[in-house]
Amino acid sequence: MCGIVGYVGNRPALSIVIDGLRRLEYRGYDSAGVAIIDNGLVKTEKKAGKLANLEKALAERGDDGIGAGATGIGHTRWATHGGPTDRNAHPHLSDDGRVAVIHNGIIENFARLRTELEATGVEFRSDTDTECAAHLLAAEMRALREAGAEDGPALLAEGMRRVANRLEGAFTLLAVDVEVPGAVVAARRNSPLVVGRGNGENFLASDVSAFIEHTREAIELGQDQVVLITPAGIEITGFDGAPATGKEFHVDWDLSAAEKGGYEYFMLKEIAEQPQAIADTLLGRLSERGEIILDEVRLTDQDLRDVDKVFIVACGTSYHAGMVAKYAIEHWVRIPCEVELASEFRYRDPILDRSTLVIVISQSGETMDTLMALRHAKEQKARVLAICNSNGSTIPRESDAVLYTHGGPEIAVASTKAFLTQLVACYLIGLHLAQIRGVMYADEVAAVVEKLRATPDSLRSLLGRMEDVRALGRDLRTASTVLFIGRHVGFPVALEGALKLKELAYMHAEGFAAGELKHGPISLIDEGTPVVCVVPSPAGRGVMRDKVVSNIQEVRARGARTIVIAEEGDEDVRQFADHLITVPQTPTLLAPLMTTVPLQVLACEIAAARGHDVDQPRNLAKSVTVE
Ligand code: G6P
Repeated sequence: MCGIVGYVGNRPALSIVIDGLRRLEYRGYDSAGVAIIDNGLVKTEKKAGKLANLEKALAERGDDGIGAGATGIGHTRWATHGGPTDRNAHPHLSDDGRVAVIHNGIIENFARLRTELEATGVEFRSDTDTECAAHLLAAEMRALREAGAEDGPALLAEGMRRVANRLEGAFTLLAVDVEVPGAVVAARRNSPLVVGRGNGENFLASDVSAFIEHTREAIELGQDQVVLITPAGIEITGFDGAPATGKEFHVDWDLSAAEKGGYEYFMLKEIAEQPQAIADTLLGRLSERGEIILDEVRLTDQDLRDVDKVFIVACGTSYHAGMVAKYAIEHWVRIPCEVELASEFRYRDPILDRSTLVIVISQSGETMDTLMALRHAKEQKARVLAICNSNGSTIPRESDAVLYTHGGPEIAVASTKAFLTQLVACYLIGLHLAQIRGVMYADEVAAVVEKLRATPDSLRSLLGRMEDVRALGRDLRTASTVLFIGRHVGFPVALEGALKLKELAYMHAEGFAAGELKHGPISLIDEGTPVVCVVPSPAGRGVMRDKVVSNIQEVRARGARTIVIAEEGDEDVRQFADHLITVPQTPTLLAPLMTTVPLQVLACEIAAARGHDVDQPRNLAKSVTVE
């Protein structure tokens, strides 16, 4: 989820590229870098950390250092392959020094391409998947020249098409060639890229906020397209070279709205980004042999086979992801799994040893409660596996193995896309353990992964029909209490729905296991009390679904106003719902990827209707580094 900017025109590129990066820094801030074509040279500067580090390095160089060239590219990184260091920062240069490349996404077949390139004598200077695209582009252009093609923008575009055809995965690639000044080429597959049409100058960026100061005329590229920009024009083709057109549009947002992608709040933007975040988290996880690949593993398969108990430890929303994971892990792996709040974990002296696997879940990777629990687990010799959204943060650094979620930076304090990507990571770990321990075969694992891969599309369709939920949110703004009930994986979803409402709307909200309500909390129900009921799929677990329906009737009989979240096609449930929100059909264990989303939207809308700051609720912090 990196930020990308390209410029070609008649003004010095550097300041335009840096200003663009500043607007895109929300996409990642592990490192930043630029490449400018100036006086027959490609000049680069790149630095780990925030954009400010790059700016400092550029200031130390002075203007003459990087030049006033009018062709440039810039990148702000959200690390995936290779830690957040200077050497892994983009741009990456080809071995002959001609080509500079920046990239957003994951090149899934990079290991094979790297081996192939190394066999031809290419020496890699980074741990990134991106670098192979730079070497490949230089090699393709060399081959074209040797076959008689002349240097120029057309050759650069053809080289990029050839590279794009060799890559698997998701990518936006931008490249410049020192011998082709006045041109920037880009390729796009499953990763964002927009073109800005200026006057005698043109722009490329991950989103329009990067160039909106200069032009509001934009073109959205289609899938599998290459675009070549020069000061005079914009040329779009498919990866096959056939001429293509993008979708032209006029941007009428102002700059601050543009940073939020046109959404009123970062949280709404992040909710909308969830389908992509899930897809990105799934990307590159299956090996050619159908095995699940973790990011950093300092454990052997035997260590994982020896595990006889799993603890999942986390805080807040991440804890709710852990609660869902328990159902999946116990079902698939058939070993006991306990979930524990990180702040409680070490104080009750849990029984841990070498054969215990502790899974810590943290969006930020810096939560002190979770870190302390991790350290305690390690002192007791347990193995620790982290699920984390922040590459290079403390929690993954101190763990024995890591699976990074690729949710991209989450700006809103209340967690949304991080939660869904944590769920995906938990499912992947469950499947990995089941496979390694021989409880599931590779084809059974692949079948679940296929279902997971279908969830982004289902989620897109669900997000497309949230208007009723928004209207309901506005209607509920004056409620004094909202209750949430669910069973099985619907129980943590109920807890998460209630937490969102507390965090954002400062309302009294409680989540309960649906069956537990009658043992006490049902006395909270008064005439008109809104109760959100998460209903399991009738497919496969009909008994469980029927029990929840009975629980809905119990609260209805006491005057509750029922807001029912049920699967599409579950028509019988309609009669018990004052408001029915349907979600796409999904296997039971994966259902939280759907059922959570209307609850996020609901909380956001109620909070906005009550006039609260949705992105920065009172008293909260995104990363809590105290115990
Ligand atoms: C804070 C945030 C929550 C988050 C929790 C755990 O309390 O406000 O939204 O769920 O920390 O954070 P982590 O980064 O460890 O997932």
